[in-house]
Amino acid sequence: MNIPASYSVTDQEKCQGPAHIAVIMDGNGRWAKERGLPRAEGHRRGAKAVRSAIKGAVDNGLDFLTIYAFSTENWNRSSEEVSDLMGLLRHYLKNEVKSLHKEGIRLKVIGDKAGLDQDIQTLIKQSEEKTADNERLTLSIALNYGGRHELVHAMQELALDIQKGTLSPDDISQATISDRLYTKNIPDPDLVIRTSGEHRISNFLLWQIAYSELLFLDVYWPDFTEDHVKMAVENYKARQRRFGGRPDDASVTG
Ligand code: FPP
Repeated sequence: MNIPASYSVTDQEKCQGPAHIAVIMDGNGRWAKERGLPRAEGHRRGAKAVRSAIKGAVDNGLDFLTIYAFSTENWNRSSEEVSDLMGLLRHYLKNEVKSLHKEGIRLKVIGDKAGLDQDIQTLIKQSEEKTADNERLTLSIALNYGGRHELVHAMQELALDIQKGTLSPDDISQATISDRLYTKNIPDPDLVIRTSGEHRISNFLLWQIAYSELLFLDVYWPDFTEDHVKMAVENYKARQRRFGGRPDDASVTG
């Protein structure tokens, strides 16, 4: 496994484990191609790897795991691939929520839900309601999600509040913007992992990752296991986060 070398920091400077990891699950297609399999098989194996990521998140004491399952740009793929992905998500929401609930996992979907098929919207609503009171881990699935789309939506909400007279332009702050994002009440990710060796953010959580640590792994998503979560957590703990400050500032903590 190719995890970049940690920064050289003293034990005192190291941060605590991450509470929130966000993952760009990339490489399903290449995983399938290398094996002479259809892309759909790569996505199917990718859905299995989601289970491993959740197990890794629970085992490593994370509070939040966010996974990028379908972007606002993924509609540009062939209609066959879009339909395969939607089928997998439907299947996931119908069949996995019971075990998520049993494990104490709260499920949330972030993204423009109104753009999804009505039956998927209904499954999302039922899954979110069923698991709403669970506290072990919050799993957010980004579905029909785009960071820029999310920001446009937030700006429209702000404009409407100003038009209604319930908000003044002077009241616009980082908090009023964060409150209008799909991730309202979810802390920003401490660590973003992207698999498959690509080094891009791809319109994922643009506002929320301002100070997130980044980790790029040379593993295709279907091969991702709970051990990768463990190693990512160790890698993160060896880093020093500065949030724009300097290491000896009082404000610099994990
Ligand atoms: C990127 O790989 C992956 C996606 C666009 C889809 C992610 C979906 C899953 C992991 C499965 C469904 C998820 C759930 C929650 C059931 P790619 O197809 O772009 O890979 P490539 O770059 O190698 O072609």
